[in-house]
Amino acid sequence: MINFQNICEELITKKEKLALVGLGYVGLPIAVEFAKYVQVIGFDIDQKRVDSYHDGIDVTQELCEELKKTTIEFTTDPSKLKEAKFIIVAVPTPVKENNEPDLTLLEDASKIIGENLSIGTIVVFESTVYPGVTETICMPIIEQTSHLKCGIDWKIGYSPERINPGDRIHTFSSICKIVSGMDIESATEIQKIYNIAVKAGTFLASSIKTAEAIKLIENSQRDVNIAFMNEIAKICNQLNVDTSEIVEGMNTKWNALGFQPGMVGGHCIGVDSYYLLELAKNLKCDSSILLQSRQMNESMATYIADIAFRKLLKIKKDVKKITVLIWGITFKENCSDIRNSKVIDLINRLKTYHIEPVITDACANSKDVQEAYGIKLVPFDDLPLADCIIIAVAHSAYKSITMEKLLKMFKDELPNNEKVLIDVKSLYNKDELCTSGICFWRL
Ligand SMILES: NC(=O)c1ccc[n+]([C@@H]2O[C@H](COP(=O)([O-])OP(=O)(O)OC[C@H]3O[C@@H](n4cnc5c(N)ncnc54)[C@H](O)[C@@H]3O)[C@@H](O)[C@H]2O)c1
Repeated sequence: MINFQNICEELITKKEKLALVGLGYVGLPIAVEFAKYVQVIGFDIDQKRVDSYHDGIDVTQELCEELKKTTIEFTTDPSKLKEAKFIIVAVPTPVKENNEPDLTLLEDASKIIGENLSIGTIVVFESTVYPGVTETICMPIIEQTSHLKCGIDWKIGYSPERINPGDRIHTFSSICKIVSGMDIESATEIQKIYNIAVKAGTFLASSIKTAEAIKLIENSQRDVNIAFMNEIAKICNQLNVDTSEIVEGMNTKWNALGFQPGMVGGHCIGVDSYYLLELAKNLKCDSSILLQSRQMNESMATYIADIAFRKLLKIKKDVKKITVLIWGITFKENCSDIRNSKVIDLINRLKTYHIEPVITDACANSKDVQEAYGIKLVPFDDLPLADCIIIAVAHSAYKSITMEKLLKMFKDELPNNEKVLIDVKSLYNKDELCTSGICFWRL
């Protein structure tokens, strides 16, 4: 009988190695943190990414300092995985064009792991999936490609990742980690191993399915709550009352939830609900609240673009001749991640009105934006004077732009009441906006 109870000890004493499969927003910080305590192999199929890590460059700019001193063995050679006794998988789980879960990258990674699996290894998946995927999709692929029996020759677990890109406070080590394993032996060992690096401790879920569900539901819950606030924002807009003020007022109550309206993009909240919807569909369960929430959140970019367009029409602008600036293209503030950014939907909607906006972003990498969307970012200091400014993403860098400076970013000849500001995330103080006489709107 293979003993899986010594893996933690053997990792700490450096007799065995831990491997990360997938070194992106999630995998890299995990590898960096574990490498402070154990020997880590960092495997990714993207040669460019691995080369940049070798050079101490993290595309997210968050871990450059750490990379310079890390001992991680970065590689694109899958056979290096044979040296690992504990494998953590953090590959993407996106949705397809039709919003159905796309598990191909997870399946490919499982195949690679199976082809390079050593007897006595525990494999833990961190990628967000719907309950059942780890045991009914990943596990059989690994068994098939390794010719090794799960539960006897190797074991499997699941530990969802809860990090928040761009957030320097809630990091891999400071967020309680949900852990689970296929049986008590693997679950206990997985928990011990995560406890090496996660200072906030671990929560042992009773099954892999439960751990998978925790992650999916905590994100879907946020999606639904934001959708409700978006619905409220639309009603408030008709009522001509300020949603931000309503949220501020509500937040004075002890049990306020604190959600704000906004565009929901990115690789987590904007995607995970689709995984839950797929599960509900497979189980033939009602998921109408979730579905409507998704539809509401997906509608927001168009809604905001339409508001901007109507404001411009109202002051009799020839929209073909105007300059619209958009501040921010990332999916949220203070991070460089542009995947599934809803600002793209906003831009595309404006284009249907023959408006070609000029885009700037304080955090995004220009090359990535050009490659992903064919959009050329303009540095903030080079922006042309505007008729309309849409602050789509509230990067901290924009908070230092005073009202005086903001007003100077509009065309000189415009009176203040023809300077249109769409302050999606209420970056500016409402009283200051009112005093300025600017034509403004906020969600
Ligand atoms: N980004 C987040 O904020 C976040 C938070 C929590 C959970 N998650 C989940 O974590 C998972 C990973 O997300 P991410 O944001 O780190 O993705 P990412 O795109 O930033 O990184 C994934 C990495 O995996 C690599 N990869 C793809 N296929 C591979 C394979 N077969 N073998 C080895 N490497 C492979 C890619 O080259 C890439 O470097 C997803 O399931 C996501 O839903 C993400």
